[in-house]
Amino acid sequence: MTAKIIKGKPVADRMQAGITEATAQIEAKYGFRPGLATVLVGDNPASHQYVRMKRNRCKEVGIESFGHELPADATQEAVEGLVRKLGADPEVNGILVQLPLPGHLDEEAVLSAIPLHKDVDGFHPVNIGRLAMKGRKPLFVPCTPAGAILLLEEAGATFEGAEAVVLGRSNIVGLPAALLLIHRNATVTVCHSRTKNLPEVCRKADILIAAVGRAEMVKADWVKPGAYVIDVGSNQVEDPGSAKGYKWVGDVAFDEVKEVAGAITPSPGGVGPMTIAGLLQNTLRAAEIAIERGEIPA
Ligand code: GUN
Repeated sequence: MTAKIIKGKPVADRMQAGITEATAQIEAKYGFRPGLATVLVGDNPASHQYVRMKRNRCKEVGIESFGHELPADATQEAVEGLVRKLGADPEVNGILVQLPLPGHLDEEAVLSAIPLHKDVDGFHPVNIGRLAMKGRKPLFVPCTPAGAILLLEEAGATFEGAEAVVLGRSNIVGLPAALLLIHRNATVTVCHSRTKNLPEVCRKADILIAAVGRAEMVKADWVKPGAYVIDVGSNQVEDPGSAKGYKWVGDVAFDEVKEVAGAITPSPGGVGPMTIAGLLQNTLRAAEIAIERGEIPA
């Protein structure tokens, strides 16, 4: 059996078309464009690349983007001060602080300085806390795990009563992905570096989400025949045969796992495009919240 390949771009493109229409309607009705402020501290090349991509995609859908860069040795006061200033700026509907921050900074304090209604990454401790609690609702859900769930829905996965295994427990992906699966009534196991018998645990999964950052770690014999496999990993590996000398692969050994799984996302080309689409969607929602609050820029 060869798995159904779940591609992210068609879904992300569809989302972007809807967002473009909605931002145009906001501009026509209220005279402003939704605005996203990005905060980038230091010179991590991958972070610069991600923020550039996010800002380019804002432009494509009619969202204004305001880029802010601080040096790697910026003080806690400087970063929090900037975030607070953006929090009070009516032109800014959403604030994105690119992670990771340099090690000397207190990430939790920086993320806590983002007003809840502008927390388009869903990383504010209160939004994550609400996501974790039964009967509570966060204003925003982190974009990558939300994108992973959307792709599972698109592919027709059943969550209710399913055995779901999440590989990885990061704040950005693994932990919120597990919470989203619990809300959908899956039985969830979260695996990490100390998990024993990892292949055996993964083989129980009807839904397997891999987000560990280890190139092609998940092999065919880790996967239950017919399972839904979502690969959030993006790892650069040597590729002497290519012009660049490297290539990108996921956490899943795609070529062999696709022969066992029922449905699988490629990486690149799976969850990746969904992350930015989710951010744009959250920024649009933040602009709608601002309108509901009567905070319309002059
Ligand atoms: N670093 C890696 N992924 C993300 C993300 O989705 N948002 C932010 N702000 N930083 C990240």
